[in-house]
Amino acid sequence: MQTKTIFITATNTDVGKTYATCKLIQEFAKRGFRVGVFKPIETGVIDKPLDGTLLLEYAQRVNPALKMLTCKDIVPFQFSLAAAPFVAKAQDSIDKKLLKTSFEKIAKHCDIVLIEGAGGLMVPIDEDFYMYHLIKEFDAKTLLVTHANLGCIHDTLLNLQFLQSLHVAHEWCVNFKDNEEKFMSETMPFYASHFDTVFTLQYDLEKIVNKLLI
Ligand code: GTP
Ligand code: MG
Repeated sequence: MQTKTIFITATNTDVGKTYATCKLIQEFAKRGFRVGVFKPIETGVIDKPLDGTLLLEYAQRVNPALKMLTCKDIVPFQFSLAAAPFVAKAQDSIDKKLLKTSFEKIAKHCDIVLIEGAGGLMVPIDEDFYMYHLIKEFDAKTLLVTHANLGCIHDTLLNLQFLQSLHVAHEWCVNFKDNEEKFMSETMPFYASHFDTVFTLQYDLEKIVNKLLI
């Protein structure tokens, strides 16, 4: 079986990509898949990559073959400045070959690799190289995680329109965090009239995974 890849993006930073990825790791593992994780670039790294460390912990718990891997394997590009990779890398360059070989080192132990982006789709990585380019680079199906604060309708529609324009397979889900009531009153009335189905990370993890597996 060829390794399936899923790219986890969000409407912005801090929306819940890592949180969603951890939930997905558990759900895919529950279904018997050998699951792995990859975070190509993490910025704001002081001692160790926080996302990479958490993702590796979750993945190692369900896929013992990953025990031989380190955070550096999971996050090959780490920068201390908490900024877009283009800025954080300064004069360094993001070697696409290293991205590929790092990915392969993980993928050989996995049926599914979840790839967490940094920030959102339009985050610049390098000259003419943006976060959304990683979707095709890794031939991934995309999961867009959307926030539920005021402004989320605009952010969600814009991101979905952009994904459609890229002609890449994608699903999306809302992460309303601890604020279901606010989401239901401020946002759901529009979503219910506009979309056939609306999945939330809190209630629809199984349905989201079903869709991602198609
Ligand atoms: P970056 O990778 O830094 O761009 O952020 P991210 O999109 O991965 O967001 P992350 O998953 O780190 O979530 C941001 C913060 O919100 C973290 O402190 C999470 O623990 C918290 N969080 C995310 N989703 C939920 C949720 O559903 N419930 C609660 N209680 N906390 C959440
Ligand atoms: Mg994250």
